[in-house]
Amino acid sequence: MIEHPTALVTGASRGIGRAIALELAHQGYAIAVNYVRSQESADRVVQQIAAAGGHAIAVQGNVGLREDRDSIVDKTLETFGRIDLLVNNAGITSPGRKDLLEATEENWDVVFDTNLKGAFFLAQRVANKMVALISAGSIGRGTIVNVSSISAYAVSTNRVDYCIAKAGLQMMTWLLASRLAEEQIRVYEICPGVIASDMTAPVTEKYDKLIADGLSPIRRWGQPEDVAKAVATVASDAFPFSTGDRINVDGGFHIRRL
Ligand SMILES: NC(=O)c1ccc[n+]([C@@H]2O[C@H](COP(=O)([O-])OP(=O)(O)OC[C@H]3O[C@@H](n4cnc5c(N)ncnc54)[C@H](OP(=O)(O)O)[C@@H]3O)[C@@H](O)[C@H]2O)c1
Repeated sequence: MIEHPTALVTGASRGIGRAIALELAHQGYAIAVNYVRSQESADRVVQQIAAAGGHAIAVQGNVGLREDRDSIVDKTLETFGRIDLLVNNAGITSPGRKDLLEATEENWDVVFDTNLKGAFFLAQRVANKMVALISAGSIGRGTIVNVSSISAYAVSTNRVDYCIAKAGLQMMTWLLASRLAEEQIRVYEICPGVIASDMTAPVTEKYDKLIADGLSPIRRWGQPEDVAKAVATVASDAFPFSTGDRINVDGGFHIRRL
């Protein structure tokens, strides 16, 4: 078993997940860099971590599929022998951003499978592994971090599936936090605002204007590194008596203003 704490970061080939993987590697974690399609990008993240003296592997798998979730966890454990931290980051926006009156079940299923069902059952599987590792004395404790969104509470009527799935992540975080506290596993929700990534690239102009007009008190785009710093902090020993919390990384967007 590797002596470094190990983090499994889903959707770590690009965007926010990539920044989380790099930040955690910088903090001394060995990293399983999960991706679904972008093998080259995932390999680049692994190489970047290795070049800085860290440990990482790329792990292909669709978090929406049970057999893929199993193989993601198995490969991580075969390589590193432990998982101390799971970051449920993989996510997709609503395909086609259809209006609520045109929303389809097909889109709902793919968004829910990736953003909510996949996250829950991956957390369940990893939590069971963590319980065994903790009881064997192989790791001291575990952490699970779920990346939700301001869409958990701010409506976009052209992304109903995305909003409802992200809202579900808050309850999922509470449920996991409540059950897993006695297992020495802490659970957090990171709630990003508007972050520059491939996901938001198609709506850059819209958000440029909204941000300039004061969408959030801190008037700038969030960067993937802003989210990564928050993930690394909640996973550290900085909050030993906290679990189930939502950490906003949104420039103050969540503050209701007159
Ligand atoms: N960007 C924002 O403004 C924003 C705001 C709030 C919350 N978020 C949330 O933050 C997370 C990351 O978003 P992002 O902006 O970094 O997105 P992104 O740039 O589109 O990257 C998405 C990542 O998720 C992976 N992925 C997609 N479907 C997957 C699946 N079924 N199984 C495994 N991996 C999968 C992708 O892998 P491949 O490269 O292989 O496709 C990629 O690594 C998402 O949960 C998103 O909802 C984003």
